[in-house]
Formats: sequence, C-alpha cells, structure tokens
Amino acid sequence: MHAKKAPREDHELRESMTSAFLQCIEQGCERRYPLDAREHLCSACGALLDVRYDFSGIDPKPLSTLWQQRKMSGAITDQSGVWRFRELLPFVPAGTDVISLSEGRTPLIEVNRTGEWAGVQLSIKHQGNNPTGSFKDLGMTACITQAAILGSRVTACASTGNTSASMAAYAARAGMKAVVFVPFGKISTAKLAQALEFGAVVIEMGDNFDQAFHMLRELTDELGLYLVNSLNPFRLEGQKTIVCEILEQRDWRVPDYLVLPGGNLGNVSSVGKGLQELRQLGVIDKLPRLVVVQAEGASPFFTMISSGADEIVPVQPRTEASAIRIGNPVNWKKALRAIRLTDGLCESVSDEQIFEAKAALAKDGVGCEPASAASVAGIQKLVRSGKVEDGADVVAVLTGHQLKDPEIAIKRRSERELAQQRLHVEPDIDKLRAALESVMLQSA
Ligand code: F0G
Repeated sequence: MHAKKAPREDHELRESMTSAFLQCIEQGCERRYPLDAREHLCSACGALLDVRYDFSGIDPKPLSTLWQQRKMSGAITDQSGVWRFRELLPFVPAGTDVISLSEGRTPLIEVNRTGEWAGVQLSIKHQGNNPTGSFKDLGMTACITQAAILGSRVTACASTGNTSASMAAYAARAGMKAVVFVPFGKISTAKLAQALEFGAVVIEMGDNFDQAFHMLRELTDELGLYLVNSLNPFRLEGQKTIVCEILEQRDWRVPDYLVLPGGNLGNVSSVGKGLQELRQLGVIDKLPRLVVVQAEGASPFFTMISSGADEIVPVQPRTEASAIRIGNPVNWKKALRAIRLTDGLCESVSDEQIFEAKAALAKDGVGCEPASAASVAGIQKLVRSGKVEDGADVVAVLTGHQLKDPEIAIKRRSERELAQQRLHVEPDIDKLRAALESVMLQSA
C-alpha cells in the first residue's frame, strides 16, 4: 500500500500569529529589532538577543487541551513535537511552510535502577529518539524554517557533531546548502557520517569547537551565511518546547528538578525561557529547579557560579564527552538568567562519573551518548553533597542517542568486562560449549 501523500497545507501554519520581535537581553539596553534582522547580537551593546512575543491575545485556558487534541491529527505541523505547541512560537507568519521531520515526540521513561543509583525518583526524557538522534532537531526545525522565511540559501554552523548532523538534515529538506565547521579529528565518526550523508560540506579545522566557532563568526556576515548555532535565538525557540512535552507527559505535574548537560549552554537557556513563558501564560504555576551539569574539564560556567564571579573565564576544554567539549559557552548570560529564574544549580562531573552514570542507565536498558549521561552523574553528585534532597522527583534530559558515539562505548569497557562479554571462539563445537558454559556460570 502506498502512503497517501500529505496535502501541501499539512506543512502550513494557518493560524494567524501574534506580534513577535527580537530584543536584546541586557537590562538597560533591551533594544528591539524586527524578526528579519540579520543580527544575532545587539548592534548597540553586543549582547545576545531573544525572540519575544506579545502573548496578550492568547487565551491560555484551552492551550493544554488544544495541544492534546492535535495529537490525533495527521498534519505534520501537529505531528511535530515542536509545532504542536506553535502558540509558543508565533514568529512564523500564517501560511508559512515549516521545515519539519516530525521531531520531538520523544519518550519520558522511568528508570528505577538508575534512580536508586542516583538517590532520586528519576525519569529520563530521551532526545536521542529524534530524527537525527539528538535534541538539536527541535531547534533546527525552528531556525531552518526562519532561514527559509528569510530566503537564505546557505546555512552554516560550528559543531561538536550533533548540530552539524541536524543542520545538514534540515537544510537538505529545505533545499539549502549546508557548511559545517568541526574541530579536526575531534567529533565522532557517526556524527561526521551523518553530515556527509545529508550532503553538507564539512570543514575540519583547529582543535576545539570554540576555535571553529570563532573563525566561522568572522565570516558569516561577510559571506551572507545563515548561522544556526545556538547564538541564533530561533534555535532556542524550537528547543524550548521540550518543557511542554515533559510536563504534558506528567499531566502538568512540575518535577522538583529538571537536569541537563551543558556545553554552549543553549539548551538550558531555551528550557528556562520555555518554563518562564508557560508560567506567564498560566499553563503552570510553579517552576522546577533547573540543574545544568558540565564535564569537569570543560566547566567554565560551573566555575563562574561556584566562585561567585560575574563573568565567564574561558578554558581549554578537555573531556571524552566530545559533544560538550566547549570552553567558551556563548549563551552563558542566558543560562545564568535561567538558573536565577528557577533557583537552579550547576554541577561539574569527571569523565569517570559520566561513564559510571552511563553504565547505570545501561542497566535500565537505556543507552545515550556520553555527554547526555553527565546529567545523571550530576544528580548523583548533588544528592551525595546534600544539595538535592534524597528521593526528589527528577527529570533528566538525555540529549543524544547511544549510537552517536559507538567507539567510546567499546573503548571504555574494562579488559575484565571485555573478557567476559566479547568472546572470540573458534568454530569448534567443544570450544563453543565450553564458552557457553562459562557464560551460564556468569548468570548463575
Ligand atoms: N548534549 C549533546 C549530546 C550535545 O550535542 C550538546 C551540544 C550538549 C549536550 C550541550 O548543549 O550546547 O546547548 O549546552 N552540542 C553542540 C553541537 C555544541 O555542536 O552539537 P548546549
């Protein structure tokens, strides 16, 4: 049977939209820009920009029912876990075709063994179940749609791998050229393969993300490239809808803590914005405490917060969790705003702790890439230090799929584990029997 071709209007947002604009986040400046401004930073003071809305025309009461009802519809705009919540994204003019791969719609799963290991009541929101295997797809549908609205032809990003895979897919779908800058030899083969397969040009340069990002930013305006890094506020608009999914999956019961790994700090910023808007609209009346967890060797935000400093001090990043190997996070001011808004916390964890958390999740049958496990490792550390209460109700975001970094899963297994788990047996029935008998002893 052939699938019925979706009518064109399935991709189209037809509702009329409220007014939207860009605004500088710096108190005292707060300069406004039109939505089609090319700037991603305030031209007056250099600070980051937000997409802001006038929500006054929205009746918040039926929102959760409307969002629920859309699940029954086959339209791509309703199937998407981003555009289903489009009342929160009214930057898209009515009649616009959105560039979507049916992103979002990811599971929220209780992980009891991992919860016991960490000392809390734990659920995980698995963003690895997205079209390209990471949370980046939520942001990419929003910002590639905006790139299409602006008539952009070439999109660009610097990346530790996931943004590049996601951008390449969404740019392909939109018929745009994609150029990605990645640190040379420092991203996983799986992520590189994704970007190449979707037709992106991959420029490998320098030793880390920060260098590649810096070089790219020098040229984006000059060459008219559309930058999709999380500096782009439209990316964060898509990513913020994860809070709607999580809370809807919990019947709008707000958890005590919502935990995320932090690299360039776009995701925690977007989640903070989503929570703030849901509260402003009256959909929720309290906020979870946001927790952002960095890898110890790439933790300038943690250092800033724990030392009480006012500014971030960039570091040379070092961690095996390559997705969050970032030493100069561009969104730190927005992240600080999110932590302050929610009375949140920041923690850092060693690579060892990250891989212990990954092993704990594996016992629940849940895989993820190393960076994602930082969130769970951070929770255990915060419970042990008494900063998070024993038994608290916690949702941890797992940001990327297990198969994003398969090499490390093997490299990180100890010789003892490999001796027990990876057996090379000659095709001889007696040797095979002996091997299987030893396996059966293991499970006894
Ligand atoms: N987890 C994964 C799997 C990531 O790929 C990233 C970031 C993060 C967490 C951190 O998110 O930057 O919003 O704080 N990856 C980017 C990339 C930098 O290029 O793929 P953040």
